[in-house]
Amino acid sequence: MIRLEHVSKQFTVKGAAVPALTDINLAVEPGEIFGIIGHSGAGKSTLIRCINLLERPTEGRVLVGGTDLTSLPERELQASRRKIGMIFQHFNLLSSATVADNIAFPLRLAKRPKEEIDRRVSELVQLVGLEEQRNKYPAQLSGGQKQRVGIARALAADPQVLLCDEATSALDPQTTASILALLKDINRRFGLTIVLITHEMHVIRQVCDRLAVIQAGRIVESGPVLDVFLRPQHPTTREFIEQVEESAELRDTLEREKAAGKRNIIRLTFVGEKTYEPVLFETMRETGTSFAILQGTISRMKDTPYGQLVVNLDGTPAQIKETARLLQSRGVEVETL
Ligand SMILES: Nc1ncnc2c1ncn2[C@@H]1O[C@H](COP(=O)(O)OP(=O)(O)OP(=O)(O)O)[C@@H](O)[C@H]1O
Ligand SMILES: [Mg+2]
Repeated sequence: MIRLEHVSKQFTVKGAAVPALTDINLAVEPGEIFGIIGHSGAGKSTLIRCINLLERPTEGRVLVGGTDLTSLPERELQASRRKIGMIFQHFNLLSSATVADNIAFPLRLAKRPKEEIDRRVSELVQLVGLEEQRNKYPAQLSGGQKQRVGIARALAADPQVLLCDEATSALDPQTTASILALLKDINRRFGLTIVLITHEMHVIRQVCDRLAVIQAGRIVESGPVLDVFLRPQHPTTREFIEQVEESAELRDTLEREKAAGKRNIIRLTFVGEKTYEPVLFETMRETGTSFAILQGTISRMKDTPYGQLVVNLDGTPAQIKETARLLQSRGVEVETL
């Protein structure tokens, strides 16, 4: 749906070229929710703005729905942009217009007939749950409600792609969850392709199918969310994952246990609906090992449940080796800590 090929962007500051993006290659599939995570200044906003050419790349090509936007003349670019909706951290609503007028704005701009605009606005306020607010002004709304207006406005022209630049960063956790749920619902119902940028890993974990990690203008890691979570390769990725997992606490436990002479500590990862206890107990019974649980977590990656268990095994080296082999053959991931 979206392809970035060798995209680079430099800004010129006081006559000097400052690189913001370097050789970005990215493919977002139709209907997926793709997350881009990075620290402040990493180039996230520049990258997402390159997708609709609000920012023109210095080099490279940007294709959306098969059209090379970088080669289009301005007038055709305007038309293509209508197929790409965007929402922002600070909502960017017109303060002097009501909810309904904010949502109608892009349709009036596109000179749609009045009846069509009225019908579409009614559909959209209902979709985002703002029927009661349709005649209010932005100042009378909460942050979450303002973002709902932003979403409705972005969807007004029936886009194929929705770009979200830190859309939940100004919201409290509960409101964030409700906005993310709305985005997920829209993605499912309309097959809308969503690109979402954030500096928060829990946002990625809740809604994204795949992600890319951006650092100093380069993509340093990418892949399906589950794979990246379970096998992060880059230090920046690990840092982000620590935001959502109690890795620091685990480190303390490990140090304590190792100091106490425990040497056979392994982390077991279970993905999907399988419950882990039967697998674990069965395997241990077969090999004659016993175990003590040091830490356990069960979480959810978008719609996939997964569990991680850190255990200390008790047995001979041969028994322990056999236990690990059996667990792996039963679909459990085993990592020695
Ligand atoms: N218009 C501009 N002129 C000059 N430099 C810019 C411009 N826009 C962005 N930059 C620089 O490009 C780099 C990337 O900025 P960008 O806004 O894309 O980062 P970001 O990841 O979105 O950060 P944040 O999380 O703070 O929003 C930064 O070093 C920034 O200073
Ligand atoms: Mg930004």
